[in-house]
Amino acid sequence: MPGKLKNIGVVGLGLMGSSIIVSFLKAGCRVIALTPLSEELEIGKKRVLEQLNLCKEMGLLSENEDYYTNNLIICDDYNFLKDCDLVNECVIEIEEIKKDVYHKIENVVHPKCIISTNTSAIPINILQQYFIKPDRFMGIHWAEPAYSTRFLEITCGIKTNVELAELVQKEAINWEKEPTLLYKDIRGFITNRLMYAVYRQGFELINKGIVDLAGLDKCFQYDIGQWITVMGLFKRMDYEGLDKYVSSYSVIFPLLSISNEVPPQMKRILEINGRGIHNLKGLYNHSSESAEILEDNLSTFNEEIYKLADLYRIKLKQFKLSEIKK
Ligand SMILES: NC(=O)c1ccc[n+]([C@@H]2O[C@H](COP(=O)([O-])OP(=O)(O)OC[C@H]3O[C@@H](n4cnc5c(N)ncnc54)[C@H](O)[C@@H]3O)[C@@H](O)[C@H]2O)c1
Repeated sequence: MPGKLKNIGVVGLGLMGSSIIVSFLKAGCRVIALTPLSEELEIGKKRVLEQLNLCKEMGLLSENEDYYTNNLIICDDYNFLKDCDLVNECVIEIEEIKKDVYHKIENVVHPKCIISTNTSAIPINILQQYFIKPDRFMGIHWAEPAYSTRFLEITCGIKTNVELAELVQKEAINWEKEPTLLYKDIRGFITNRLMYAVYRQGFELINKGIVDLAGLDKCFQYDIGQWITVMGLFKRMDYEGLDKYVSSYSVIFPLLSISNEVPPQMKRILEINGRGIHNLKGLYNHSSESAEILEDNLSTFNEEIYKLADLYRIKLKQFKLSEIKK
């Protein structure tokens, strides 16, 4: 059940907005789902109800459907946001549009309302400058589908009141998340930073002729993929014993790529406007059938791993592991 943040506004009824709305409904919150585009009202409503239905099919809802729809208002009028405790902006990734939306949100909400963005790429420090009261603004970054993934990054901008971010972190447990708080805004947040480090190293190994793309993918899938969900990176180190890591640092660190170049195959893909499985121009030669299977696999796997991972998450959770001091 929700704690202090009971009334939630979500602005933007696209792919992510609609699944974030369902996530809040699932947590028992009252949700104002607002589209800035009147013409999206009908399709937006359909999208949210479809996501709610998918969530139900996954067996993730404890109440009947009416309970959730009674807690939901879908609208295009910003005045509906006036009693919200938290508003999560989830509109298209265009800074000027977000700026306009913030202005409209800030005009109607009460002074204690927390305002947040689901942006994937625009720095929080940049978006924060568009607020009259910037201390209440932060990033709340979800993974898709929001109701069946535990990931949540809460990011403070330079002017964010950290206590508010800590409050959101606490509340996010009620949304059934495993939230991470970033005390400072960094480009790419955490997961993108980590993945780009891996991509840089991966492209170097491929471009030096050491391994091909498919071979590298297999290593990542079947080695790291075998344990990452159950223990993350640092619990894995503790599990393995740390001595070998300490000695490997001095040997392997100097060998890692520090290239700042965009890999040549990525430049080529840009030239042909490659969008991977979405236009069948990617790093692999996809057919429409293989693209469809990849998408289906991910969707089914996501559902299964969400439930499987939970069994292990709960077992370890009782120990409330804290980290050692630096
Ligand atoms: N798709 C993902 O997996 C994902 C993951 C994490 C974060 N995000 C972020 O979430 C946000 C929304 O992404 P999405 O995938 O839901 O996008 P989307 O294109 O599916 O939806 C965008 C929504 O923005 C609104 N919108 C569109 N044009 C507008 C305009 N001219 N003026 C005002 N509002 C307008 C509409 O409500 C539209 O549904 C983006 O900031 C994106 O970076 C997306």
